[in-house]
Amino acid sequence: MKIFMKKQQINIVVELCRYDELPPEYQLLIDAAKEQTALSYAPYSKFQVGAAILLENGALALGNNQENVAYPSGLCAERVAMFHANAQNPAVAPKALAIAAFTDGAFLAVPIAPCGACRQVLLESEERFGKNIEVLLCGEENIIRINSCKDLLPLSFGREFLI
Ligand code: THU
Repeated sequence: MKIFMKKQQINIVVELCRYDELPPEYQLLIDAAKEQTALSYAPYSKFQVGAAILLENGALALGNNQENVAYPSGLCAERVAMFHANAQNPAVAPKALAIAAFTDGAFLAVPIAPCGACRQVLLESEERFGKNIEVLLCGEENIIRINSCKDLLPLSFGREFLI
């Protein structure tokens, strides 16, 4: 009998770093993501998320989570920021995204990771412009730096499946 079953490993590379090891433009991006948490509308979860996107032309697109009493109608910070970036700058590629979260009077110690739905949206923005978007997941001390949104969503659904 011919054996078809195979195991494959999918690897992603992440870089763990600290704020002062990053280039100034990324430090500013993290500052902006943190500032955005204060503007979030999160009366239900009290979990305030901020996202900041650096575009290739140097502009920033900002966002934070916007909740709703009909819970699924709310939107995560990452999608608010990315849809805003794409809506206002349909011809400018995003270059990097920083995400931070604030709850119980403090920024999260552990870097926050985007939800699955946001990963799908981030990936489309990356593929749309054909340029990788770096992702900075920001904890209070440590930052996880990821080279592209594709790394956050292996085995993803993409336009190649549509006929
Ligand atoms: N949230 C975000 O905005 N981004 C994430 O990456 C994870 C979760 C929001 C959704 C909801 O308003 C609250 O955080 C709690 O899940």
